[in-house]
Amino acid sequence: MVGTVNGSGQSKTESTDGGEPVDKVTIHTLKRQKQAGQKICMVTAYDATFARILDDAGADVLLVGDSLGMVFQGHDSTLPVTMDQMVYHCRAVTRGTRRAHVVGDMPFLSYQASAQEAVHNAGRLVAEGGVGSVKLEGGEEFSETIAHILRASIPVMGHIGLTPQSVHKMGGYVVQGRDEETARRLYRDALALQEIGCYALVLEGVPLELAREITSALSIPTIGIGAGVHCDGQVLVCYDLLGLNPDFKPKFVKRYADLYGATRSAAETFFAEVRSEAFPDEEHSFKSKTIRLVASNPSVGAPGASPQGPGEEKAGPVYGVPV
Ligand code: KIV
Repeated sequence: MVGTVNGSGQSKTESTDGGEPVDKVTIHTLKRQKQAGQKICMVTAYDATFARILDDAGADVLLVGDSLGMVFQGHDSTLPVTMDQMVYHCRAVTRGTRRAHVVGDMPFLSYQASAQEAVHNAGRLVAEGGVGSVKLEGGEEFSETIAHILRASIPVMGHIGLTPQSVHKMGGYVVQGRDEETARRLYRDALALQEIGCYALVLEGVPLELAREITSALSIPTIGIGAGVHCDGQVLVCYDLLGLNPDFKPKFVKRYADLYGATRSAAETFFAEVRSEAFPDEEHSFKSKTIRLVASNPSVGAPGASPQGPGEEKAGPVYGVPV
């Protein structure tokens, strides 16, 4: 992809496949969306294939979330996710994305120990992963760390409320800000993160009334997950909205598809057809006009013989199959 800049300061991305150039979503686009009352659509992505689908569907923001530790790697928390893994997934997602702004999540222990490490790790997500900004969990206590990252010209999205990296401190994945004291603390955190320079804020697992108060007090956009309709945008984990895990049914998730069912039934049909030899049928097989069975034509396969006769059909450029 080739980047250019248009008159509005937005980055244009020309696709190498000859498609139309598109206006890249930037952190400035998101601020304008809040001002114009246009909801921001964010969704997680972990690989190039899903990134392409979600980008084509019109996502404004793709988040390479550390939720990949749970939905992709199968852990029961996000805590085991490493920086190297995040870089790997960010690179895959940015390769599959044309229009959306891509945010890379800072995994557990990549920013908590020191501001220097935080800058280095945020820089890796940008330089190696190709993302346009980073997200980290936590409130006012991370102001200094965030300031250091911003000084390196890396935009930061904040994340407060139910912060999964603090699962042990919270005593589980528990809605935050239900009582007055924690609600006030979250409100103060939101203002502090805006003040320090975050360009947007994820509000996760908080009552909708608190999310509404915070959203109207801020000039930067809020993006909610389990935080009600008043946020400036919404985010869901793509595996959740696509219904890929039949056992995960939290209140805040709406399933827009049953991809567990669709994927399972497609695989079951494939296996049944393999077992019955209905697949591969003639339509999905290559035929030779010249090659006879080795038993009836010993010259086939002999040194010097062409492996592919002159009239052969061509295979697709798939997984090393010769074209
Ligand atoms: O890791 C993640 O996917 C997230 C979103 C749920 C906001 O942080």
